[in-house]
Amino acid sequence: MVNDSSKAAETQRARNVADAPRVADLLAGAATLGVAQLDAQLLLQQLMHCPRAQLLAFDDTAVDAMTAALFHAAAARRAAGEPLAYITGLREFWSLPLVVTPAVLVPRPETELLVELCLARLDHSPRLVADLGTGSGAIALALASERADWMLIATDASTAALEIAAINRERLGIRNLALRAGNWCEALPAEHFDAILSNPPYIAPDHPALRDLAYEPRSALTAGADGYADLFSIAAAARAHLKPGGLLLLEHGAGQARSLRQELLSLGYADITCRQDLAGLDRATAAIWP
Ligand SMILES: C[S@@+](CC[C@H](N)C(=O)[O-])C[C@H]1O[C@@H](n2cnc3c(N)ncnc32)[C@H](O)[C@@H]1O
Repeated sequence: MVNDSSKAAETQRARNVADAPRVADLLAGAATLGVAQLDAQLLLQQLMHCPRAQLLAFDDTAVDAMTAALFHAAAARRAAGEPLAYITGLREFWSLPLVVTPAVLVPRPETELLVELCLARLDHSPRLVADLGTGSGAIALALASERADWMLIATDASTAALEIAAINRERLGIRNLALRAGNWCEALPAEHFDAILSNPPYIAPDHPALRDLAYEPRSALTAGADGYADLFSIAAAARAHLKPGGLLLLEHGAGQARSLRQELLSLGYADITCRQDLAGLDRATAAIWP
């Protein structure tokens, strides 16, 4: 009797495996929904806890019903336009794996330009550096991880965003980063900084690009009527917080470099230079407070 029932269970298990969808079936199903191949692979890789190479090399592997159901749900979210990072809960920035939720902007590769410029401009000696509007903590965490002798202060008006930045600081074991809540420079301590960086909201509220950014917090994207309000108010306020010779580094929209330069000149900044991102678009402006 025992033998019969265990044989039956064994047969059922074999049937289940035979009927189970294969990796290749799930990926093909996601493609019919319009999900990009790489996105589908990354979603399935996370659910199956295996490297992508393994997934692809053994794409006839049977997938259990629970994993298949979770994958269908994730693929449907992606097909509806939700950023991959919000579905997986992770995004890499400067090679750091960052937790992201809809409380924060998904860090963009072009923002690594600010990190690169700051590291190139300041040497390894102890420095005090601020990241205004830190979101997930991306810029500040990248700098803090590269320069153990620097002290970073990262601010945000959103306490929900600061909670994510704090989780990332903890997960990465970063010790030289303090987080503060508040409006731009008002959140900074009464000290003078070697550098102030920011990737503030800079999109005009009527810009068509916002249609593709519906899942990200509006407060992280738009500024004033024309997109310049936060760039200009940070530039004005930063003057009281920079050391003489201190560096202001701002990310901005591709068409904003000229007006930002004019504003920085009229505020008294010097040595104003604009750098392009990998797509060749004007993306970051550096200025020195004399
Ligand atoms: C474009 S996101 C940048 C996030 C992050 N630094 C990055 O590069 O991924 C702008 C950030 O500025 C924050 N922010 C918006 N208005 C602010 C204000 N008045 N004061 C401080 N932070 C603000 C938003 O909450 C958001 O996290």
